[in-house]
Amino acid sequence: MPTYATTGATGQFGRLAVAELLRRGTAPTDVVALVRDPAKAADLAASGVDVREADYDRPETLEPALEGVDALLFVSGSAVGQRERQHAAVVEAAKASGVGRLVYTSVLRADSTDLPVAPEHVATERLLAASGIPTTLLRNGWYTENYVGLLGQAEATGSIASATRGAAVSPATRADLAAAAVTALLDESTAGRTFELGGPSFTMDELAAAFSRALGREVAHHEVSPEELAAGLRAAGLDEGTAGFLVAVDVATADGALEVAAADLEELLGRPATSLDDALRAARA
Ligand SMILES: NC(=O)c1ccc[n+]([C@@H]2O[C@H](COP(=O)([O-])OP(=O)(O)OC[C@H]3O[C@@H](n4cnc5c(N)ncnc54)[C@H](OP(=O)(O)O)[C@@H]3O)[C@@H](O)[C@H]2O)c1
Repeated sequence: MPTYATTGATGQFGRLAVAELLRRGTAPTDVVALVRDPAKAADLAASGVDVREADYDRPETLEPALEGVDALLFVSGSAVGQRERQHAAVVEAAKASGVGRLVYTSVLRADSTDLPVAPEHVATERLLAASGIPTTLLRNGWYTENYVGLLGQAEATGSIASATRGAAVSPATRADLAAAAVTALLDESTAGRTFELGGPSFTMDELAAAFSRALGREVAHHEVSPEELAAGLRAAGLDEGTAGFLVAVDVATADGALEVAAADLEELLGRPATSLDDALRAARA
């Protein structure tokens, strides 16, 4: 049987991917969990999965960790600003250790978007293309959880604010995106393809309406300018960098950066993507 590995296996996305691989009948002994800190993966080791240390910042750990891996789910790292260097180390090690095929979690329309996270993903996509390793690109939209996470604020204040100018977003749950990634990992015919992945679309007015339904109280969405949004985020205690990042995301969103049809995701899932209402119900359960 082929050996399947995922990086970031102790992260939220990576854990879902490992669980999905096992749920689909992959033997634990055919699953390699690549982790920065094996101490956080005791539960994975206990389930019979092969846990190996693979730290993007310690390139010497990467090549041995990838030994014997047929198909690798490369979950992009979380250290924004460090990822071009970190990801280059992973691609180099994957090539050196003979990884047969690779699935990478990129960002929606990486090569044409104004989303501030795009440059590191574009750089990684280019390195992957140059490596010659057959690759599936999963250009993930935003997680539904990013929006569900505003529920607490909505409950406390009765309002949410954005500078999205009425544009829609098409997020997908981490679980749906991880299930799609596992399909791509198991199905070698996806190599060479690029999937633009998102779920059901909604505007921020529609998000406020969904919050109202979930909470049983009125939640309003206030459209603000990017400058007003930045001031509000700073007043709420966010540092300059984080506030600037979130404003840049809203400005890109207003231009449609996070809206996409659900067709690619549903092709990989083989079912409809999870709705916002269902994601909200699950979060509140
Ligand atoms: N689409 C979106 O809305 C969205 C939002 C946020 C992030 N992302 C991207 O999607 C990825 C997965 O999301 P997530 O929710 O699973 O994020 P997460 O829970 O923060 O997981 C990130 C994973 O990267 C690992 N990692 C960080 N630095 C590493 C290093 N030096 N060496 C090896 N592994 C390292 C972390 O290891 P530890 O477990 O040891 O911490 C963790 O397993 C993120 O890393 C980011 O690239 C997408």
